[in-house]
Amino acid sequence: MLREKKNGRLYFDGCDMVKIAEEYGTPLYVFSENDIVSRFDELKRDFSDKYGNCRVAYAAKAFCVKGMLKIVEKCGASIDVVSGGEIAVAAAAGFPADRIEFNGNNKLLPEIEQAVSYGVKRFILDGTNELPLIESACKKYDKKVNVLVRITPGVAASTHDHIVTGKLDSKFGIPLEDDVLYPVIKNVMDSPYTEFKGLHMHIGSQLFTNREYMESLEVMLSVASEIKKRFGAAVSELNLGGGFGVTYIDEERKPVSFFLDPMMERITAWSKEQGIERPLIAVEPGRSIIAEAGITLYRAGQIKNIKDVRKYVSIDGGMGDNIRVPLYDAKYTGIVANKADEPCTEVVTVCGKCCESGDVVAEDLPVPESIKAGDIIAIYSTGAYGYSMASNYNNNPIPGAVLLKDGKSAWLIKPQSYEQIMENQVIPEWL
Ligand SMILES: Cc1ncc(COP(=O)(O)O)c(C=O)c1O
Repeated sequence: MLREKKNGRLYFDGCDMVKIAEEYGTPLYVFSENDIVSRFDELKRDFSDKYGNCRVAYAAKAFCVKGMLKIVEKCGASIDVVSGGEIAVAAAAGFPADRIEFNGNNKLLPEIEQAVSYGVKRFILDGTNELPLIESACKKYDKKVNVLVRITPGVAASTHDHIVTGKLDSKFGIPLEDDVLYPVIKNVMDSPYTEFKGLHMHIGSQLFTNREYMESLEVMLSVASEIKKRFGAAVSELNLGGGFGVTYIDEERKPVSFFLDPMMERITAWSKEQGIERPLIAVEPGRSIIAEAGITLYRAGQIKNIKDVRKYVSIDGGMGDNIRVPLYDAKYTGIVANKADEPCTEVVTVCGKCCESGDVVAEDLPVPESIKAGDIIAIYSTGAYGYSMASNYNNNPIPGAVLLKDGKSAWLIKPQSYEQIMENQVIPEWL
């Protein structure tokens, strides 16, 4: 376990969290490189190496900074990006363009041009108006790209409604309607600028059962069979998306084989029935790579005890560095890092310093009774979609992040300064 208690303190990837908080300041995101690498190792061992002709694309939206993309590159994985900004970070990190795939339900023409000119070769088409934009960019740069068509399988995943993406009523994917989906695919096949590769789905996030994956896969395979029937072309690639659940409190994290083995078995059987080679299978995990590799360190400040109601412990960060609690009722746990051995005898609400009642980071955190201002509170599993969704609400700077490995540490992101917050602000000359 990369998180351990030693000498009354919390250690993560060999580093003393109290010392790290003192050295780098709080609030602070910390990331364990060994944890990240172990997630890629599992995918390699139990998916890509086990089955062959597979691809892992890390969903960069979960945490996309140059240092992280270097780790992804070293682990041999691809990335899934959803914006010009993510492509710019990838380019700045020197991430190989041919290992980037471009998702997104409203890719803008300048973003598509940026991707094509950087050499991105794989587009996940997610809208009926997208193809002409891709064609125009390819024409401009004299390039041809591979295209997967994202379908909406119409299966509701059992997770928070804000992170369901594959049900019928969703902004993502092309609906299965006969006169919508197949003309889009035919156009991709006929275009001189695109090569039709296959289909893509992503049904939701933080999933723990494979019912919805298997149901969606059935839909995807029936579309692939129909493509062969109508156009005589076998799909050469299927992308199953991400969504594998992680442990925030006590959820039982499932190994990737739990999700992928049954799907691979079904795809192999289907390929035999179709008399075709098994297509390349891609996955796009984000959260399951980076969530548990991240911890946020805060310093406790004001403590308010409302007799017989609740004890609030205010911290020096909050919804600016982690919006997931107010956004989708996310649950977190953690520890008082400098009192790691003391028994937790009371439960407190850890709240942020923003002017919002909903600014809560952990609603019921068990802590030692001795908790007081100055203690270091470590909140676990904050690596995914925390920094990605950070904001300057109340003009609080976005905290920095430190990478940890085997007891050593280094900046991954320096903390934002007040000057940087104001960088683009202009006072109109008539004021
Ligand atoms: C298209 C696509 N792929 C992959 C992911 C990653 O999902 P997760 O972080 O749950 O693995 C997302 C998340 O929103 C997505 O929209």
